[in-house]
Amino acid sequence: MTALPPPPMSLLAELTHRCPLQCPYCSNPLKLDPRGQELDTQEWLRVLDEAAEMGVLQVHFSGGEPMARPDLPDLVRHAAKKGLYSNLITSGVLITPESLHKLAEAGLDHIQLSFQDAQAETADRIAHMAGSHAKKLEAARLIAAEGLPLTLNFVIHRQNAERVPAMLDLAERLGARRVEIAHTQYYGWGLLNRDALLPDRAQLEATEKAVEQARTRLAGRMSIDFVTPDYYAEQPKPCMGGWGQRFINISPAGRVLPCHAAESIPGVVFPTVREASLADIWNTAPLFTMFRGTDWMPEPCKSCAFKEDDWGGCRCQALALAGRADATDPVCHRAPDHTVIERTITARPQTPPPFQYRRFGNA
Ligand code: FES
Repeated sequence: MTALPPPPMSLLAELTHRCPLQCPYCSNPLKLDPRGQELDTQEWLRVLDEAAEMGVLQVHFSGGEPMARPDLPDLVRHAAKKGLYSNLITSGVLITPESLHKLAEAGLDHIQLSFQDAQAETADRIAHMAGSHAKKLEAARLIAAEGLPLTLNFVIHRQNAERVPAMLDLAERLGARRVEIAHTQYYGWGLLNRDALLPDRAQLEATEKAVEQARTRLAGRMSIDFVTPDYYAEQPKPCMGGWGQRFINISPAGRVLPCHAAESIPGVVFPTVREASLADIWNTAPLFTMFRGTDWMPEPCKSCAFKEDDWGGCRCQALALAGRADATDPVCHRAPDHTVIERTITARPQTPPPFQYRRFGNA
């Protein structure tokens, strides 16, 4: 009998794809789940029970905008009851003193608040929502007043990279314990808007330098995570910590996925929590076993010394750039399709085209 894999460490619960913002790099799939297909409260409570039984440690409530779900405090309370560490990933624009207080009372452990920029004008343009930056500043103030641990997340691209030093200053002023300076990843909406988002090498290097300087200045006070853009890396990243190894994602309609972009893979059945248990799906569904471990790997991955470090990179990126999900991630400088990355960087237009904003029916 084949040994069962270790359980996932984290569950990403995408409660809804609805969101007041329209960020052009949104990690949601191009085809968004409508409200009528969303799991209801009882279904989510059962999912949390099953996750805790499996040995999951953390649940990240995400979206879309998870604050759009009125049952969020009930889900947080249930997660706390089951011993799950809970994190809310939010844009902050729907946070009010009352809604935040309810979440704190329900036992929420942590909030990750996203920002589009350090200045209102460009932040509102990127989010395509007037007044969104001011609402986020107010949300950060309320979170600090409520005493909840706060991480700020900034997504970096060619249209805001020069303001990374200002973003780090803002995070410090807002009392964040941790900040993520994360360059955009290019799948889904990010791939659709790649020419409008991809920085050049000089911009990347300037952001690296700003982060290094801030790490020295803020040592012991605020930790800084930095995510480089794949296209300028030598080796691929270990996407999701390896396919089907650490993370389990659930879409608003209940599809159980190894990552947020997996639905782009053709010819695969996407199991849902409405038909099977979380443990059965994790352990045996072909979607999870197809790229787990190293047996599936082609050369040069199969004989690579780093195959258990990067786990072959990102399957969704391999599909998007090389046309096959089981190809070596073209980001790897040894990949047969690596020239696709070089050609993309060379062909990057001098002037960014207009954003194609993320919204229902826009893809
Ligand atoms: Fe799917 Fe990387 S986003 S494996």
